[in-house]
Amino acid sequence: MRPGYDRAVKVLVVGSGGREHALAWALARDGVELHAAPGNPGIAALASCHPVRAEDPASVVPLAAELEVDLVVVGPEAPLVIGLADALRRRGIPVFGPSAAAAQIEGSKAFAKDVMEAAGVPTARTLAVARPPCVVKADGLAAGKGVWVCRDQAALDAALRAAQALGQPFHVEELLEGPELSVFAIAAGEQAVALPAARDFKRIGDGDTGPNTGGMGSYSPVADAPDVGEILETIHRPVLRELARRGTPFFGLLYGGLILTEQGPQVIEFNCRFGDPETQSVLPLLEGGLLEALAATAAGDLGGVALPTNGLAAVTVVIASRDYPERGESGTPIDMEATEALVFHAGTALQEGRLVTNGGRILNVVGTGASIAEARSAAYASVARIDFAGMQFRTDIATNA
Ligand code: AMP
Ligand code: GLY
Repeated sequence: MRPGYDRAVKVLVVGSGGREHALAWALARDGVELHAAPGNPGIAALASCHPVRAEDPASVVPLAAELEVDLVVVGPEAPLVIGLADALRRRGIPVFGPSAAAAQIEGSKAFAKDVMEAAGVPTARTLAVARPPCVVKADGLAAGKGVWVCRDQAALDAALRAAQALGQPFHVEELLEGPELSVFAIAAGEQAVALPAARDFKRIGDGDTGPNTGGMGSYSPVADAPDVGEILETIHRPVLRELARRGTPFFGLLYGGLILTEQGPQVIEFNCRFGDPETQSVLPLLEGGLLEALAATAAGDLGGVALPTNGLAAVTVVIASRDYPERGESGTPIDMEATEALVFHAGTALQEGRLVTNGGRILNVVGTGASIAEARSAAYASVARIDFAGMQFRTDIATNA
């Protein structure tokens, strides 16, 4: 129970991946009564799971109303882009997540470029003529499949064909060189609080080889990153001010995807929600207080909210199924011994009481420790206690951190 409430605070987490399990875990630490739509078997250990699809506002809104939740936390981008947060607000239900209009910062690359230009935020230049090296990007949501990095003409030709085949507008931009960084800000209009920076590993194979995925691992904090406070001032705040100026203020998580170039950090994308799998590495570094920050954002005022960190480091290793990222699979039994690390479920299901695979990315194993090296050892020691037919994971997450 918390001050001002005569019962435990009720929170509905929308989504079913590793990010949502991490959010549920962090909220559970803050002592809330948790519900999830639809959740997964890992989340079910912490929350009551309701069989309602995240992308179906017509079912999520009545569920939130019926449960009389104090807060809805929306994990994925798709429901935000189609207006779930607006629909909840219209019913007077507090929600952590931006309006459809503000979610365009992720939903439309053209909108994002326009906002960044108006805000004076450094970003990859749009190129009028497609010539390698460059990056071809589809304009709308493409679940990570709408970006082609082209270092030669053959790659560019293939990318242009693939982009046309997607059937949505696309643009060509400058190829930026440097390490990537994800910086999350919890934002309420022009107020913002930064979380520790994280790095994710997008390629399927060790040494950053093979196709892009939803993310095969992450770590936080990042030693070679500039101060997050500085990034917040130069990247997030100008964008938040510009969104507010346009009459579409942002309330939720503004995720800056950056490349640390020799000229300084530049934005390759903004997302309108927590990153996956970065969230799994970032939330274990908080002392607590996530509920307060998310609820304050939903109420429209972050005044006085801080998110102290515990000084730890975290490394997340994603375990995927055999044919990921081409396809996922379902029904393969998972053997898992008790581990010291946190294990956040992504694509899992229960079949006759047995945990089985159900997707591409199956589990997230999160090690924590006093250093990245310790966190990494803890994560991999626990990965070794998990087994299922065809499981694959990267062995080099955070090795060079
Ligand atoms: P996105 O979907 O925008 O995150 O892009 C997927 C991946 O493509 C990023 O994580 C980067 O590795 C790469 N990428 C996107 N834009 C650029 C860029 N302008 N320069 C270099 N790499 C990029
Ligand atoms: N980790 C990349 C993303 O969440 O978009």
